[in-house]
Amino acid sequence: MEAVSMASMFTFQGVLQGLCVAVLVGVVIVKLRAPKLKLPPGPTALPIVGNWLQVGNDLNHRNLAELANTYGDVFMLKMGQRNLVVVSSPDAAKGVLHTQGVEFGSRNNNIVFDTFTGNGQDMVFTEYGDHWRRMRRIMTVPFFTNKAVQHSRSAWEEEADFVIRDLKARPEAATSGVIIRKRLQLLMYNVMYRMMFDSRFETEEDPLYLKLKTLNGERSRLSQSFDYNYGDFIPILRPFLRGYLKIVKDVKDRRLALFKESFVDVRRKLNNKKGTVKSDDEKCAIDHILEAERKGEINEDNVLYIVENINVAAIETTLWSMEWGVAELVNNPEMQTTIRNELISILGKGNLVSEPDTYNNKLPYLSAFVKEVMRLHMAIPLLVPHMNINQAKLAGYDIPAKSKILVNAWWIANNPKNWDQPEKFMPERFLDGKIEASGNDFRFLPFGAGRRACPGLIIAMPLLSIVIGRLVQSFELLPPPGVKKIDVAEKGGQFSLHIATQSTVVLRPID
Ligand code: HEM
Repeated sequence: MEAVSMASMFTFQGVLQGLCVAVLVGVVIVKLRAPKLKLPPGPTALPIVGNWLQVGNDLNHRNLAELANTYGDVFMLKMGQRNLVVVSSPDAAKGVLHTQGVEFGSRNNNIVFDTFTGNGQDMVFTEYGDHWRRMRRIMTVPFFTNKAVQHSRSAWEEEADFVIRDLKARPEAATSGVIIRKRLQLLMYNVMYRMMFDSRFETEEDPLYLKLKTLNGERSRLSQSFDYNYGDFIPILRPFLRGYLKIVKDVKDRRLALFKESFVDVRRKLNNKKGTVKSDDEKCAIDHILEAERKGEINEDNVLYIVENINVAAIETTLWSMEWGVAELVNNPEMQTTIRNELISILGKGNLVSEPDTYNNKLPYLSAFVKEVMRLHMAIPLLVPHMNINQAKLAGYDIPAKSKILVNAWWIANNPKNWDQPEKFMPERFLDGKIEASGNDFRFLPFGAGRRACPGLIIAMPLLSIVIGRLVQSFELLPPPGVKKIDVAEKGGQFSLHIATQSTVVLRPID
């Protein structure tokens, strides 16, 4: 009996050992047979965590620029199970955004963004393909065409005038100063909500405005935080993120419900009323989008995700750039004088800058100033991460499928190899008007370039010139009493960059 059980144990052990050896041999054969990849350089990765412990959580544009100095213009980090490829030269950026724009034209999954966008039912964070093409087409007519700009430009100029009117009405603005961001934020909401819904908020205290601002702020904080990286990089750690993801889902649900009940459905009801067929001139963006829904091109959720995308992509980015612009105006009073004189000499005294004045380098110094703000203080310094669905080649390296590709547009625009004294705020470098923000020069990519480039540039660039130009025409902008320069220290997120301390600015009216 004992002999039999010994024998069976012996065979069992043998089988187990045999199996282990077979698996091991199999793994070695697969490894040997697999084509040898020429991966981009990078620090040696540890099992499971990869380079995570070496490089830390905060993969911001400055830390990544330092790593580029060590590992080169195209390098790779292994963050847990994710491959992260960082691109830091104009040539390599051209490869990702233009030459191989299709291969690298998708977006990565990310546990938090997936929740906020319903797993890519939106446009900004969706894969490159039919859904993206459809969403882009539907959003283009009401937002991203010259016709849309002409339709809205008087509203933009009116909102800029309201800012000036309100600031002039506040005595403290001319003495102790005001936090300018708050009023510019209302301007940005009004510009975009007038375009979207033909509606505006009268004051900063409007309860609906406050609700929107809070929920959008929460969305931004939760998605831009580095706190959830561990669950994103190492899937087995995801259960520890349950609490975080529950909050994300709650914010997402409340936000979409607010968009739906307070804006989309209001407009839907208005459109459904008999005898309210609108001409193209009377339509706002959501009317066009609801038309696409009626035709069955998109569903109700897609409509809400378009509203979600505009709230994130349009409002904060442009606001941050305005705030940086105001800070640079205050810190460089001689540039205020140059802009003011240019506006007087080209437009004539008393004529405020308007949308048609902002093109073709008609106002070279004002345009150069806006571009320089975007070069030194890029609102989205790493662009929105790109992704290659299939294995691809870049700069002679093999890029594994589904790598997260970060284009360090900030470093490309601030690297002394590409720019003279890049740390200096010098609008003169853009004076000849040859370098546009649209990506005609791969050293300057504040809006990206190619297929996934920002379509909102058509709104953001004229709007920035209108607001900055009109502020300078109406006020002398100064630091608050006792302060020499405004603090332009920055605060970054997963891929955002804004001024760390909200600037208090004194605005002394000019006759
Ligand atoms: C100063 C203001 C702005 C800056 C700096 C900015 C920057 C960017 C950047 C860097 C990207 C990603 C490009 C890439 O992945 O290669 C992007 C994408 C996008 N932006 Fe903007 N943006 C601004 C304003 C706007 C405005 C006003 C709108 C809409 C009205 C808008 C709508 C979008 C959309 C829809 C995308 C996604 C494009 C896609 O994935 O295909 N942006 N933006």
